[in-house]
Amino acid sequence: MRSGFNLIFSTMLMLAFLMCSASKTKNAVSVVSPDGKVDVNFTIQDGVPYYSVSYDAKIVIQPSRLGFRFKSATPMEEKLSIIESSQKSFNETWKPVWGTTDKVRNHYKELIIKLKEKTPPNRQMHIIFRAYNDGVGFRYILPEQPNLKDFEIMSEETQFCFADNHTAWWIPSDYEGYEHLYRHTSLSEIEAVNTPITIETQEGLYLSIHEADLTDYAGMTLSAVKEKQFTFKSELVPWPDGVKVKASTPHRTPWRTIQIATNPGSLIESHLIVNLNEPCALENTSWIKPMKYMGIWWGMHTGKYTWHTGPKHGATTENAKRYIDFASKYGMPALLIEGWNVGWDYWLKGHAFDFLTSYPDFDLENVVQYGREKGVVIIGHHETGGDIPTYEEQIDSAFSLYEKLGIPALKTGYAGTIVPEGQHHHGQWMVNHYRMVVQKAAEYHLMIDAHEPIKPTGIRRTYPNMMTREGVRGMEYNAWSDGNPPEHTTIVPFTRMLAGPMDYTPGIFDLTFDEYRKDNRIYTTLAKQLALYVVLYSPLQMVADLPKNYKNQPTFKFIQDVPTDWDETKVLNAKIGDYVTIARKNDENWYIGSITDENSRMLKVALAFLDSGKKYTASIYADASDADWKDNPYSVDITKVLVNNTDTLLMSLAPGGGQAIEIRPATEEEIRAVLD
Ligand code: NOJ
Ligand code: CA
Repeated sequence: MRSGFNLIFSTMLMLAFLMCSASKTKNAVSVVSPDGKVDVNFTIQDGVPYYSVSYDAKIVIQPSRLGFRFKSATPMEEKLSIIESSQKSFNETWKPVWGTTDKVRNHYKELIIKLKEKTPPNRQMHIIFRAYNDGVGFRYILPEQPNLKDFEIMSEETQFCFADNHTAWWIPSDYEGYEHLYRHTSLSEIEAVNTPITIETQEGLYLSIHEADLTDYAGMTLSAVKEKQFTFKSELVPWPDGVKVKASTPHRTPWRTIQIATNPGSLIESHLIVNLNEPCALENTSWIKPMKYMGIWWGMHTGKYTWHTGPKHGATTENAKRYIDFASKYGMPALLIEGWNVGWDYWLKGHAFDFLTSYPDFDLENVVQYGREKGVVIIGHHETGGDIPTYEEQIDSAFSLYEKLGIPALKTGYAGTIVPEGQHHHGQWMVNHYRMVVQKAAEYHLMIDAHEPIKPTGIRRTYPNMMTREGVRGMEYNAWSDGNPPEHTTIVPFTRMLAGPMDYTPGIFDLTFDEYRKDNRIYTTLAKQLALYVVLYSPLQMVADLPKNYKNQPTFKFIQDVPTDWDETKVLNAKIGDYVTIARKNDENWYIGSITDENSRMLKVALAFLDSGKKYTASIYADASDADWKDNPYSVDITKVLVNNTDTLLMSLAPGGGQAIEIRPATEEEIRAVLD
């Protein structure tokens, strides 16, 4: 199955193996990134493995412990010695099926260390380090061997010992979800976190700790080590019986990743996590297509509609056709329909959902056919409520139904406590379930948008039908909670989004929706909603509001125009928790999104990235001078100006505001109009 299909465009620039013995002493080896700045050192002290990392001679990770504790066996971290080590360099450029850039450079130096216990049971363990210019990945391999066959990991002993009491942006450790607001504190104030955690060091470096290629293993959280200051330890999400990972050799762990950058924007531009995943496993990817989608969705969250039956049922044939008419008229290629299938009346009560049977007022086949005639595809929806056995019983027939009808994408949901009891959303058992769903979806040609998902770890490289996922406190929180403050979306790009695309669901135009929920609102200006389409990356990007709220809105033009797939991405301004400006290129056109927190500010954008000697038309959607998320969120100025690569735009962002710009090559007519 694995064919390296997505490497067609890739160029193997260099591949060199350098077998060598330990480069320093027998107990210490090291590897340095291609640019020489990232330095990883590995040592054995009294039989215990440690690693450390520095950047440009600044300590990033102080000597930190590695190893495992198994159930009913001696720990594998105490009597080890190096039996062999080797290095290689690797440099390729591969072409993603979709992404933030159209090519990805994967350039690293790798160190493989083979370790063996000096005393019985003489088990072996390998550790691989990859030193990239933008960080480090390392993973453990437990090779096939006589004295280690089936095993149960009780604890992974990996530590991250930071050099000082840096500050960090983090969400608390939670085995079920990532839907939290971020906190910004010093490391000493943290007890336990979900990853990614993003850190600013005293020396002005930006770090982010996460994992890549989470396959057949438990999700990693980090908990503070009481006895050792500024130190965190891998705390794996357990099975119901307390075991963390159940497997047999040969087996390998996910990569533990440490992104390193000299400015926060480079964290966003890094491809470290996706590079640490296997190449595309799918022969044919022509059916995988990024797109915008509308949904019978926001109405349920605000109370206009219900998922379940009754007078406000949203997913009726008639309503779906109304949405399709709107989507078709305004060039939106897809429509998500939630609440179409039987079970919502018993949601969270067990064995609720039937993924094959529509509610009586909804004719799935008829709706799909109507959409086809109008050029709008339907995105299916499977809310499992966390009841995995019920879903797995039906999954083949449910996927087959969608494929037969021509439904190309599916949103899954896991809102609820996992059944069987005691399993967690982020434990090994669920990691394997989420992966099975992605693989099966590929067989049935379905793209996946997972809600209440396992965290992204770059699997999209291997299975590019794994498009996007939630795993973030998204727009829906504004509908029914105390909401997401203006600052939230200036943190998320530097934390959760480093892991992968996000189905945040931007584009709410009726910012107060008083008709449905008087006490809830959106904490942004209208212009900021537009900017989120560029800032928050998702190959399936929702156009989340009710159709009626987009009618006769000149700003809707930006949402109609903005693409969902990119050739280039540049972060132009970045201060975590304050502001961010991102420019993304699609074909000849550039789109810029700039957002601020609760403070107004002026930001500059130098257009030096445009082709020189070329004239462009910039359509600017800006907060007007009197705009303010609280009292005057709808005040937007739309202007058009001719620009070239020597220009610098000055952006004025309102409190809770933003600005969105489309820049495309100017037409002869536009150039003449300015000259006249
Ligand atoms: C939570 C999801 O995040 C949301 O998008 C969905 O509408 C509900 N669950 C129901 O499935
Ligand atoms: Ca959710």
